[in-house]
Amino acid sequence: MKFDGAGIAIVGSGSATPQAVVRNDDLSQLVDTSDEWIRARTGIRNRHLLGENSSLSELAAMAASKAIAAADISPEAIDLVLLATSTPDDLFGSAAKVQALIGAKNAVAFDLTAACSGFVFGLVTAAQYLRTGAFQNIVVIGADVLSRWVDWGDRNTCVLFGDGAGAVVCQRSSQDQLLGFEMYSDGSRNDCLNLSYQEKPKYLINDVSIQKGDYQAISMNGREVYRFAVAKVPEVVEKTLFRANLTAADVDWLVLHQANQRIIDAVAKRLKLPAEKVIANLHEYGNTSAASIPLALDEAVIAGKIKTGDLVVTSGFGAGLSWGSAIFRWGTVD
Ligand code: ACO
Repeated sequence: MKFDGAGIAIVGSGSATPQAVVRNDDLSQLVDTSDEWIRARTGIRNRHLLGENSSLSELAAMAASKAIAAADISPEAIDLVLLATSTPDDLFGSAAKVQALIGAKNAVAFDLTAACSGFVFGLVTAAQYLRTGAFQNIVVIGADVLSRWVDWGDRNTCVLFGDGAGAVVCQRSSQDQLLGFEMYSDGSRNDCLNLSYQEKPKYLINDVSIQKGDYQAISMNGREVYRFAVAKVPEVVEKTLFRANLTAADVDWLVLHQANQRIIDAVAKRLKLPAEKVIANLHEYGNTSAASIPLALDEAVIAGKIKTGDLVVTSGFGAGLSWGSAIFRWGTVD
């Protein structure tokens, strides 16, 4: 990609997951389901859930601190804390709390909401500040605690989700390692998947009544979302590769949003990418929404799979509906 400003390098990653593990068999105590059904239809075996006396901000801060340490910079060097989440501790936003927890006292902080596309959208947003030269170091965090918003009596959704956080440090760099991106939204299909506010009118004064409702549990048309994902994800990845003058043969690693192993397999097949190039950890964590890509990325970096210079293709998709792809080379490459 040609441009006149500075570029972006992704120089460190970190992640954090809660300790409490709930196995598929445990869920059959709550709803009419089985380990066999969940594994066959999704690939999920376990999910980690955030316990009481803990918060989304703390989980996000843990991941961010690890990413900052891996990038070998101090928290004071961070200019922006960008928190992609749909489950903040505070509807006004949780990024500022994270900023305080990690000691990034020179950083501005804000939340970005785009469900399971949140990390990809956040990464692309961060790149704009780095390319214009406005900022030097940005920590992009994807974190979600969907267990707060799942109806634990709905077998269609409760078996799918888990909690977690992942983060990367993006740095201004003379060589731009973000080789391409695409982002899309289709709000006309919002009904397929949402966590929406249900208004309840409350009479206030004179002829004024206001809304005093609450958010409802996650509602999802699984089949529709499945069809959307297997159609749109390969398309957006192919388009991003094409525009970056790359082909699937150039790809070292495919790191998709971890929603369903069948979706990951179908996308990899369509792109003709062998299983060895596909990163998947949803068997252990389920769908952790905005956290899933940076969590999978971090585990692959720690395991020594993803190395400096490797070409990584990411794609997030989910509520909105929203979807997108970002392609980058890992680390600082001269
Ligand atoms: N245990 C046992 N049976 C179940 C369960 C369960 N946990 N859940 C559903 N079933 C039943 C259904 O009731 C249905 O029964 P019926 O045929 O008698 O009606 C049957 O299993 C088949 O249901 P389907 O919905 O057709 O199952 P499918 O194979 O489509 O798998 C799933 C469902 C896993 C949800 C799949 O559709 C999927 O992964 N969809 C995409 C989800 C996704 O990618 N979300 C990403 C975004 S998340 C975000 O943005 C926050």
